Amino acid sequence: VPLQHCNTFGIAARAHALVRVHSEDDVRALLADPLWGRRPPLVLGGGSNIVLTGDVEPVVLKMEIKGMRLVGETPAAWIVEAGAGERWHDLVAWTLQQGLPGLENMALIPGTVGAAPVQNIGAYGVELQDRFDSLDAIDLATGQGFSLDAAQCAFSYRDSVFKHVPAEPEGQRLDQALPRGMGLAGRAVITRVRLALPKAWKPDMGYLDIERKRTESGVDQPTAQQIFDWVCEIRRAKLPDPEVLGNAGSFFKNPTVTAEQCADIIAREPRIVHYPLADGSIKLAAGWLIDACGWKGKTMGKAGVYERQALVLVNRGDKNSADASVTGGEVMTLARAIQTSVYERFGIRLEPEPVVV
Ligand code: EPU
Repeated sequence: VPLQHCNTFGIAARAHALVRVHSEDDVRALLADPLWGRRPPLVLGGGSNIVLTGDVEPVVLKMEIKGMRLVGETPAAWIVEAGAGERWHDLVAWTLQQGLPGLENMALIPGTVGAAPVQNIGAYGVELQDRFDSLDAIDLATGQGFSLDAAQCAFSYRDSVFKHVPAEPEGQRLDQALPRGMGLAGRAVITRVRLALPKAWKPDMGYLDIERKRTESGVDQPTAQQIFDWVCEIRRAKLPDPEVLGNAGSFFKNPTVTAEQCADIIAREPRIVHYPLADGSIKLAAGWLIDACGWKGKTMGKAGVYERQALVLVNRGDKNSADASVTGGEVMTLARAIQTSVYERFGIRLEPEPVVV
């Protein structure tokens, strides 16, 4: 089965089998099927945060569970539930149409609802964990459904329990409280996600790009719809549309350094873009580091560094052609060259952000 149209990079890898999942029962039917090899599957949502470096051995589960509804409320929030296969951006737009603001800063993030908790998506000052209520998942070993709250998902910056490989031994039941540090990668599949949208909504304007839009527009108190429109404009201006130019969003995480390390770097590079964090450590803009090393707009093989945002690696081949598209190997070769030059210049190790398969 070709996977080229199942990943936004447009890498022409193939899989032995791909199963489209429309319901919880579809997952259980698959698990009961003797053809199911009991090996952890590769779970795919929109394929917008993945680099395929070769053909995929495991069965691919393409999550297509649909549905968006208001399912309840707490004193402070409306609770909205969406199927893992809904497109994230469609959920953001739908909640606004329902008069339920809170997701607007995360407009236009590619990918599906089910993938959102995996890497704790975030943009323009709001992360999924700020709006998360709970999720439903299925244990791939037993077919049992279970739910997790935010603490059990162990969210942190672009990270969660779903990105970590399980600690041995297996056999722990997943419908009980998860032990700390337990990984769920390959052990469970997310089927539904519930979000808590604040009843007392306030615009989140903490991000410079949005504040700039507000000043330009002369609006004092923006509505959620206005913020949604601004975020869409900002993203369209600096991030490539994966429909046109294959990519997986930011390719590296923004690294965190100690205040001492940062002081040392600032002494050498006074213009470095950095943000102090609540715990005293300092986050550096990986895009700035890569840009400073001269990578913006560069190409190696058929992999390139986007000219308007150095943090994004793009497919300079033909993303619709099996032969002329970038390979995962070319993407990783470019990524390693970037890591090496950032390390040699700044002493900082950049960590890839997408899942590399
Ligand atoms: N910068 C440069 N040169 C570049 C790129 C960036 O100097 O080529 C500087 C910018 O001028 C800015 C700073 O770096 O001062 C940060 O750039 P930007 O505001 O574009 O955000 P980012 O840190 O590159 C992060 C997320 C994005 C998210 C935006 C907005 C990560 C890895 N990336 O990007 O998330 O949309 O903030 O909140 O945290 C993603 O995860 O795939 C993603 C796109």
